[in-house]
Amino acid sequence: MWCAGVVLMHERKSFFEMGLVSIYIIELVLLLITLISFKLVHGGIPTTLDGPFKPVTVPLDESFRGNATDLPDADPRVQKPVDDSQPEQISVSLSATYGSVWISWITGQFQIGDNINPLDPSSIQSVVFYGVYGNPLTLQATGHSLVYNQLYPFEGLQNYTSGIIHHVRLTGLKPNTLYQYQCGDPSIPAMSKLYYFKTMPVSGPKSYPSRIAVVGDLGLTYNTTSTIDHMISNHPDLVLLVGDICYADLYLTNGTGSNCYSCTFSQTPIHETYQPRWDYWGRYMQPLVSKVPIMAIEGNHEIEPQAENQTFVAYSSRFAFPSKKSRSSSTFYYSFNAGGIHFIMLGAYIAYSKTSDQHKWLERDLANVNREVTPWLVATWHPPWYSTYKAHYREAECMRVAMEDLLYKYRVDIVFNGHVHAYERSNRVFNYTLDPCGPLHIVVGDGGNREEIAIEHADDPGNCPEPSSTPDSYMGGFCAFNFTSGPAVGKFCWDQQPEYSALRESSFGHGILEMKNETHALWTWHRNKDLYKVAGDQIYIVRQPEKCPVEAEVTF
Ligand SMILES: *[C@@H]1O[C@H](CO)[C@@H](O)[C@H](O)[C@H]1NC(C)=O
Ligand SMILES: *[C@@H]1O[C@H](CO)[C@@H](O)[C@H](O)[C@H]1NC(C)=O
Ligand SMILES: *[C@@H]1O[C@H](CO)[C@@H](O)[C@H](O)[C@H]1NC(C)=O
Ligand SMILES: *[C@@H]1O[C@H](CO)[C@@H](O)[C@H](O)[C@H]1NC(C)=O
Ligand SMILES: *[C@@H]1O[C@H](CO)[C@@H](O)[C@H](O)[C@H]1NC(C)=O
Ligand SMILES: *[C@@H]1O[C@H](CO)[C@@H](O)[C@H](O)[C@H]1NC(C)=O
Ligand SMILES: *[C@@H]1O[C@H](CO)[C@@H](O)[C@H](O)[C@H]1NC(C)=O
Ligand SMILES: *[C@@H]1O[C@H](CO)[C@@H](O)[C@H](O)[C@H]1NC(C)=O
Ligand SMILES: [Fe+2]
Repeated sequence: MWCAGVVLMHERKSFFEMGLVSIYIIELVLLLITLISFKLVHGGIPTTLDGPFKPVTVPLDESFRGNATDLPDADPRVQKPVDDSQPEQISVSLSATYGSVWISWITGQFQIGDNINPLDPSSIQSVVFYGVYGNPLTLQATGHSLVYNQLYPFEGLQNYTSGIIHHVRLTGLKPNTLYQYQCGDPSIPAMSKLYYFKTMPVSGPKSYPSRIAVVGDLGLTYNTTSTIDHMISNHPDLVLLVGDICYADLYLTNGTGSNCYSCTFSQTPIHETYQPRWDYWGRYMQPLVSKVPIMAIEGNHEIEPQAENQTFVAYSSRFAFPSKKSRSSSTFYYSFNAGGIHFIMLGAYIAYSKTSDQHKWLERDLANVNREVTPWLVATWHPPWYSTYKAHYREAECMRVAMEDLLYKYRVDIVFNGHVHAYERSNRVFNYTLDPCGPLHIVVGDGGNREEIAIEHADDPGNCPEPSSTPDSYMGGFCAFNFTSGPAVGKFCWDQQPEYSALRESSFGHGILEMKNETHALWTWHRNKDLYKVAGDQIYIVRQPEKCPVEAEVTF
């Protein structure tokens, strides 16, 4: 055990950086403790073939009900770390295949107030020098840059204009290879320090990234930092962020924040935001996401309405997406491969009906998936279809009605959602019926943002919401009719934890997905309240392609 541990640590050390060394030492000890205790406590890890499981509600731990508090403006981790011409908020994200990644960063000062003067993006270059780790940085790529504004045409509200946001796509990369890079403008000169990232492995049934972290509804509280610390201790190769990112929309433009925007600021003429929170988030995340690629999808907290009915501008500007490469015309939905996994990122806050562009794109994208090359099909979007909490109960029903059939026919294996601030894992389900060929739905809206953790279940006495109150006003539509079959027939809610819910728990945390081969994936949920490495939930997700063949036409 010692030998294995030491070898692993050595390999990972080159990938992450020196600041994390102390975590490694603590972690090695913890790893040994947990390996030993795990053997003693758990016999074997259950698999989905042992299911469907009887629903379990982990009792609420009252000692973890303290409020989540945002990092203040004065926290050193959210301060601008460099001069104006130097890159900050550096991040890596994937393109559609292993051969290409995006490097993104910001230069210059954002401005907020009443006399903002947008910076000129062409005033500074977007260049990345890169090369295989250990070799000189002989390769070079140039990209594009932009600024965005968040404008409020209302007396007393302050406008925001961003620093210069740079996106550069590196191409021709080798799979599963550690690269080093510097980004910035070499003519000033203002290049960043050296950073590292590892490309995804080739796509194939035996080829997977080791660990994919899945997290949602993150925000930037002290609880968020606990989530991220736990995540870093698990050494992810990729981070999947299922929406609701920095919660800048819980603030007024003058920087006054609240845990509950609508209760505290009910009289505002428009739902304000404090855009510097995005910059804080980008700075806080840089140590992780300058090395580990992050893939994000939009949540409702990214709507951020502003002048001229513009929405999602910060989200669409700050991240780079493989939209074009996955033949999507939108930043709201796209797909990509990570080894033998095809990820589909769906937009819940843009049209999804059967006649929408997104639906047509989804049909085409699904039909093009070659399961010999990417056996695993994982879909992600923000508001869950299968959650049993009172908050947001059946809120995304119209999306479910429009898209569930398609995902089922193409045998999506796993669905990840956020939005509900708790953890929940479903049994395999389709159309509210237990189905061995339906996907597993996993909600990880438990990232630690400053809104309250979800505790109430829709099936607890007196908690069933009035059906007409359930749709989200931004998504619109009403599709959540009473159940027409099953134990809750004729009713809007179950009167006990529904059979489609396998496990639910109101704790903050994150998940780690590890594909072992074309049939077995290990899913582990880690709670912030536990020591690093301890599993709050663990299960093998097992595919059965013979029993559950793809039912729709495939045209790859
Ligand atoms: C969030 O962090 C606070 C301390 O900052 C703690 O009291 C609280 O229990 C945490 N919440 C959860 C759900 O872990
Ligand atoms: C926690 O939040 C609740 C609801 O937002 C509020 O009523 C309460 O005062 C807060 N408690 C603390 C200690 O800040
Ligand atoms: C912010 O921008 C809007 C739209 O251009 C403008 O109407 C408004 O006066 C500006 N507000 C301030 C405080 O400069
Ligand atoms: C921001 O505006 C709100 C509402 O007008 C006010 O209550 C608060 O004191 C202001 N905060 C600052 C820092 O000016
Ligand atoms: C913004 O949207 C509202 C409601 O949909 C519409 O009435 C208004 O004309 C729009 N304004 C602009 C500038 O597009
Ligand atoms: C789902 O179930 C409902 C109610 O039983 C039924 O009307 C509908 O056709 C089913 N949808 C699919 C795609 O099977
Ligand atoms: C739907 O179920 C709720 C209770 O869950 C009930 O109050 C309501 O009357 C039902 N509506 C219909 C149309 O049956
Ligand atoms: C896939 O991995 C699981 C878990 O490690 C193992 O039990 C199973 O035998 C493997 N199957 C194949 C076909 O390699
Ligand atoms: Fe949300």
